[in-house]
Amino acid sequence: MLIPYSSIACLATLVAGTVANFDRTSSDVVIRQTPNSQSPLQKNVTWDSQSLSINGERMMIFSGEFHPFRLPSPSLWLDVFQKVKALGFNTVSFYVDWALLEGKPGEFRAEGVFALEPFFEAATQAGIYLIARPGPYINAEVSGGGFPGWLQRLNVTLRSYNTSYLEATDNYVSHVAGSIAKAQITNGGPVILYQPENEYSGACCGALFPDPNYMQYVEDQARKAGVIVPFINNDAWQGGHNAPGTGLGQVDIYGFDNYPLGFDCGNPYTWPGSNGMAEDFYSTHLRLSPNTPLSLDEAYLLTPKKFQGGAFDPWGGSGFAGCASLLGPEFERVIYGGMNWGNLGHPGGYSSYDYGAAISESRNVTREKYSELKLLGNFLKVSSSYLTASPESASSGIYTDTTDLTTIPVVSSTTAYFVVRHNNYTNQSSISYKLKLPTSTGNLTIPQTGGFLSLNGRDSKIHVIDYDVGGTNLLYSTAEIFTWKNFTSGKVLVLYGGPGEHHELAISSTSTTSVLEGLARTETMGQTTIVSWDVSSTRQIVLIGDMKILLLDRNSAYNYWAPECPTEGISPGLSSQETTASSIIVKADYLVRTAYLQGDNLHLTADFNATSTIEVIGVPKGARNLFVNSRKVLFKVDKHGFWVAEIPYVPPKIELMDFKALDWKYIDTLPELSPTYDDSAWRDANFLHSTNTFQPLNTSTSLFGSDYGFNTGYLLFRGHFTAEGTETDFFIETQGGTAFGSSVWLNNTYLGSFAGNSIDENSNQTYTLPPLERGKHYTTTVVIDQTGLMENWVIGLDDMKDPRGIISYQLFGRDDTAITWKVTGNLGGEDYVDKVRGPLNEGGLYCERQGFHQPQPPSDSWEASSPFEGISKPGIAFYSARFDLDIPDVWDIPLYFQFGNKTSPPPKYRAMLFVNGYQFGKYINHIGPQTLFHVPQGILNYQGTNWIAVTIWAQQASGAKLDDFQLIKETPVMSALTGIKSVEQPWYSARMGAY
Ligand SMILES: *[C@@H]1O[C@H](CO)[C@@H](O)[C@H](O)[C@H]1NC(C)=O
Ligand SMILES: *[C@@H]1O[C@H](CO)[C@@H](O)[C@H](O)[C@H]1NC(C)=O
Repeated sequence: MLIPYSSIACLATLVAGTVANFDRTSSDVVIRQTPNSQSPLQKNVTWDSQSLSINGERMMIFSGEFHPFRLPSPSLWLDVFQKVKALGFNTVSFYVDWALLEGKPGEFRAEGVFALEPFFEAATQAGIYLIARPGPYINAEVSGGGFPGWLQRLNVTLRSYNTSYLEATDNYVSHVAGSIAKAQITNGGPVILYQPENEYSGACCGALFPDPNYMQYVEDQARKAGVIVPFINNDAWQGGHNAPGTGLGQVDIYGFDNYPLGFDCGNPYTWPGSNGMAEDFYSTHLRLSPNTPLSLDEAYLLTPKKFQGGAFDPWGGSGFAGCASLLGPEFERVIYGGMNWGNLGHPGGYSSYDYGAAISESRNVTREKYSELKLLGNFLKVSSSYLTASPESASSGIYTDTTDLTTIPVVSSTTAYFVVRHNNYTNQSSISYKLKLPTSTGNLTIPQTGGFLSLNGRDSKIHVIDYDVGGTNLLYSTAEIFTWKNFTSGKVLVLYGGPGEHHELAISSTSTTSVLEGLARTETMGQTTIVSWDVSSTRQIVLIGDMKILLLDRNSAYNYWAPECPTEGISPGLSSQETTASSIIVKADYLVRTAYLQGDNLHLTADFNATSTIEVIGVPKGARNLFVNSRKVLFKVDKHGFWVAEIPYVPPKIELMDFKALDWKYIDTLPELSPTYDDSAWRDANFLHSTNTFQPLNTSTSLFGSDYGFNTGYLLFRGHFTAEGTETDFFIETQGGTAFGSSVWLNNTYLGSFAGNSIDENSNQTYTLPPLERGKHYTTTVVIDQTGLMENWVIGLDDMKDPRGIISYQLFGRDDTAITWKVTGNLGGEDYVDKVRGPLNEGGLYCERQGFHQPQPPSDSWEASSPFEGISKPGIAFYSARFDLDIPDVWDIPLYFQFGNKTSPPPKYRAMLFVNGYQFGKYINHIGPQTLFHVPQGILNYQGTNWIAVTIWAQQASGAKLDDFQLIKETPVMSALTGIKSVEQPWYSARMGAY
């Protein structure tokens, strides 16, 4: 079982008994209970059964997930954080991948693109709290679940209380937890929670589980390194593992994950049906961990239908477009995926880690789910009564006039939230209904002024009663709340409904009322003012007393933003429920990042993908001038006092070069096939034993890559023997993980390939040998493309040790010892050469060992030939070329490398893409599904020279070439974020001892 990724949210819960009788008045204020401090180590982060509190203030932790190592361009990290912040979220949780930081046992390196400090700084600048999840075990769809390949050699059960495993983790944890400790909130940093281990939830094969000593050790490691913020865990389901009260190994705040929609991106419109999940989770939670907030550490729970941030998609899968539909705005979540560059992924995934997430791998925010999430995030941010509310039993027919709908009241001492959904949440039909709600003025049937509400298709609604809008009581609203503010110029409440819907609200006030825009109807009824309207794509505005109510349709609401607007400094500061008081409302089409007031200048930072009108609603007192992205902008003040300005969008003409026109250079990167090739510098594969506990050795010497320190990328083996002339066939079992492939030659005669498929992680092949000459020396060359190490999810199985290499072989007519083997992977193995790009980026091909994939290879003497010409026989070709980009600084123009062949059946070949030395894609033409490879700015130099390299491994007799290989661009975004720096890109220089 592979459970990945996603987000945390501590759903505010309160065991408040029954609050069936709403006997409240609108003057009640939200009662903020003092949280019980249950953590003895610090006071900044506390919690009780209802919620977390930060510095004494209750907060809903609304978190995205973002893995810095999947976006190795640190100056873009702020971009992602700001896009998360703009959702109304306050937190990001992140993994750290041990395999990338300790490629050699004992040598911890976290520099350059791997450094964590810039990540912490960017989070602080954006005003985002962090949840640290550094493992040592993380899963995370990374190779080995984050375990470095050298753990394959440990002859003990991993993730167990066993000294040699625990000692192996000590160096990594002391360093990584040490850096995290420095960035804790107690030191003024953004880190508020720490998760040791991940999904410590299942075991087999006789492993002791759960082992309290093991979890305690992992926790003690972090404490020893100085981590004092509370520990959370992420049980893979509500198994109660390590929940508070379970003794040794318990965490402070119990959490679990859930992916209710599963991972079938091929059938995006089919939802697995299961109702009552939220209710079941909550009652189970009360049993397992009654004193901590309900916490979903991956995916999140909010309404009965809303969680899960994305889904992974395997080799040969249906592609992330399907995932984006499966987890679309109807049912969505979090946040930023990224790329599995440089061999960091596990065998179950390809180079993209887009995940169908709200923020795409190229960081655009055009997916509707981003906007949908923003509506929800901003609503909760301004709804502090939600933090002390508790869910009650789901029912049908009590709060609505139909038994076709289910309602869950979520009730606080003042406000109640009624979540209405179809009984069966997969239901796509439309249902008309009336609400029957117990408001502070008595039980009301709503709409009171005629008409019906409707729930159209896969939707759910959050209807509120007695909701405080800065001192004005919203008696009820059938439309959903986006945000509200209490400006010095008056209050603003922004509501939205779906297309074609009818809505009604009531305000406990009989102040003067007028309809400023649109056709909304108002009337007074007793002590209340009622507004009713039909949702329209044209905005409607009603004024009641000092409160302007904006009535929008959902699509228009997508264009509203509520950035915090500090007057000191330009950073919004760390999120707080309270800072919403100082935020403003801005309408702008694509993205509003930040707002701040400097003297009488109101600054906005915003991105645009089309010419748009921006409106500032609730201009801060004292503001006279408007600046957008540091440029002064002329504006008009409309009749409502909103500032209105036009922002022109004139994208630059960017002509991306035709790759066919580049000056390509070519070398054969399988010189091993040459009769004169000398492999004396290769490692002898002569170990008679392997310490690998997953796979017993059934060859005379070990042919497992990791036994010799080769843990990543392509592996090559050379087998030498002197023929007797009796040999007939060669049997070989190679293994490299799902979608792996292998090819075998005898001298320079091609014996054949296992081209791979979306299922097999190993393969048996028998090749017929040509007649061999007695007494003559022969060499077999075996190339294996491995797709990463297994994730080691099940404790005791230790499947990350599942070896990559040759599992068995037989030279028919000879015994096993006739062949002596040599092996290579990346140059240096665990003494990897490229400290900048890290231990996983390079594999064992000649071009990689030499470093030719880097900028400026010594290609003057190479043949001129391009990947469009390719090679006409089985083999592996290497191509390198340079090109320049000249993209103006303010333009964020995501680029993709597109691969593809139109011929059917698809030619069998594998390609690797290197950009400025970073491996940014493994393309398998006959497996797919990925054809587009995003490479971020920073890896690509947007103002300057770039070097690309492509390998083509033809796994069929006729050779292979690229039909399609081009650079394509997304819609240019005029971005507020400028000054993106290129990362370090060491150029080629001759490598000592390279072979
Ligand atoms: C942490 O708590 C201390 C003591 O209450 C407080 O002085 C400090 O400002 C808090 N730190 C942060 C980053 O809020
Ligand atoms: C692991 O160690 C045990 C105990 O020393 C030994 O019996 C066993 O053979 C070893 N297994 C491997 C695969 O090396």
